[in-house]
Amino acid sequence: MEIPPKSIAGSRYRRDSLNFGMPPIGSPTYGNTSGNRRRVAIVAGVRTPFARSGTTLKDFTAIELGRLAVAELMQRTGLDGREVEMLVFGTVVQSVIAPNIAREVSLLPHFPKNLQAYTVGRACASANQAITDAADQIVLGHADVAIAGGAESLTHIPILHSRGMSDILVAASKAKSLPARLQTLARIRPRDLIPITPAIAEPSTGESMGQSADKMAKVNGISREAQDRFALRSHKMAAKGTDDGRLAAEIVPVPVPPNFDSMMTTDNGIRRDTTYEQMAQLRPAFDKLYGTVTAGNASPLTDGGAAVLLMSEERAKTLGYTPIAFIRSYAYAAIDPGEQLLQAPVFAAPVALQRAGLTLQDMDLVDMHEAFAAQVLSNIQGFASQYWAQRAGFTTPVGEIDPERLNVMGGSISIGHPFGATGARIVTTVANELQRRGGQFALLTVCAAGGMGHAMVLERV
Ligand SMILES: CC(C)(COP(=O)(O)OP(=O)(O)OC[C@H]1O[C@@H](n2cnc3c(N)ncnc32)[C@H](O)[C@@H]1OP(=O)(O)O)[C@@H](O)C(=O)NCCC(=O)NCCS
Repeated sequence: MEIPPKSIAGSRYRRDSLNFGMPPIGSPTYGNTSGNRRRVAIVAGVRTPFARSGTTLKDFTAIELGRLAVAELMQRTGLDGREVEMLVFGTVVQSVIAPNIAREVSLLPHFPKNLQAYTVGRACASANQAITDAADQIVLGHADVAIAGGAESLTHIPILHSRGMSDILVAASKAKSLPARLQTLARIRPRDLIPITPAIAEPSTGESMGQSADKMAKVNGISREAQDRFALRSHKMAAKGTDDGRLAAEIVPVPVPPNFDSMMTTDNGIRRDTTYEQMAQLRPAFDKLYGTVTAGNASPLTDGGAAVLLMSEERAKTLGYTPIAFIRSYAYAAIDPGEQLLQAPVFAAPVALQRAGLTLQDMDLVDMHEAFAAQVLSNIQGFASQYWAQRAGFTTPVGEIDPERLNVMGGSISIGHPFGATGARIVTTVANELQRRGGQFALLTVCAAGGMGHAMVLERV
């Protein structure tokens, strides 16, 4: 039988039916006000304490950190594991042995073995990607209950053999006899023994995150003092949020190996006693001669895990949960990594706000992931800039951020930044704080390697 050629216009894959730009009103998606959309509820969120890599949580793998967060999420919500239909997790530095971390986490005894689970990677926005993937499935009606989050151990990073060493080892494994194998192994030279560690650098430009932040500080005129003062603020806000119990409430206490006779209950990167003067003394960490980015105004390498429980509004109601917040809209964007690597939130935020039908002035809280103080201050500048607005395709800037509403409990500079987990920490903290303040809307943004950016609008109604 001859199959007639499909006209694009007549096909169900018509361009206007794809989700380019704003969705048509009435479609089952985010941000519209029609009665038939399925709202995605954030029911609860929890995380492990965040620890500077190589310190208190050094004995835990990313899988174990993810499991700690998810097990606690199930414990706190009292949810029957059979209700969960999917688990999505983000991680950045993947284990070579267990690359689908989500599946390993889903094999917790809390769940039936047929819980499907997959892992996503969008650099520092990986947990955000996990959350929006799961949320999309809920919006589409493919799921009603999902767990999304992420975990990272920057202590347990894969150390690779050099290319020369790998070639020899592969050749040796294929050798047909012991003498042939020994002959192959005899080709190993001292330089082949030098291991390769994953770099926090852009494969496309070779520039590290820190170098990019230094460059952004120079290009945008962000002073060393402004960076140090912002970082100091981050520590003070995070210390306050920990001391008054708001951050501590989101953390599962973790027994510390090897003796398990003490508990880690709070993040160990928060320096409550640090001063501006101390921070001003620190030497540049990346551009040693002219740089302004230091260990003090950068986020530290960190171990940790975080997870959120998402449900359709209807299912949350049926199961008797009161959501903390709902996902109103989100967006992703990207910029040339060779330009300003961490500036893409400036492109994502206006799109997320537009999809939400809201403006910056409507936001009760704004939370920006703090990879570096130089990046946050560049993003803030970009929000208010006509130049960046036009580059994002808008006629007016997003606007000036009210400092009283920005990162009110610190951020990744103080709390720490386990790459794959940070997005779930931010969503949890912002949702809880929005509820505490009786606010209605919040905007969160995350910059990520590859020149990518994410923004999400949360709402409470
Ligand atoms: C910046 C970086 C290189 C620093 O690493 P490090 O040198 O191991 O950092 P440390 O925590 O040991 O800090 C270095 C020194 O600064 C001091 N210091 C750091 N922050 C400080 C603060 N707020 N106040 C006072 N002193 C501080 C430390 O005490 C330490 O002092 P010491 O050498 O006397 O012990 C590392 O944290 C890094 O690579 N961060 C960026 C990670 C990244 O790229 N993330 C991606 C973002 S998307």
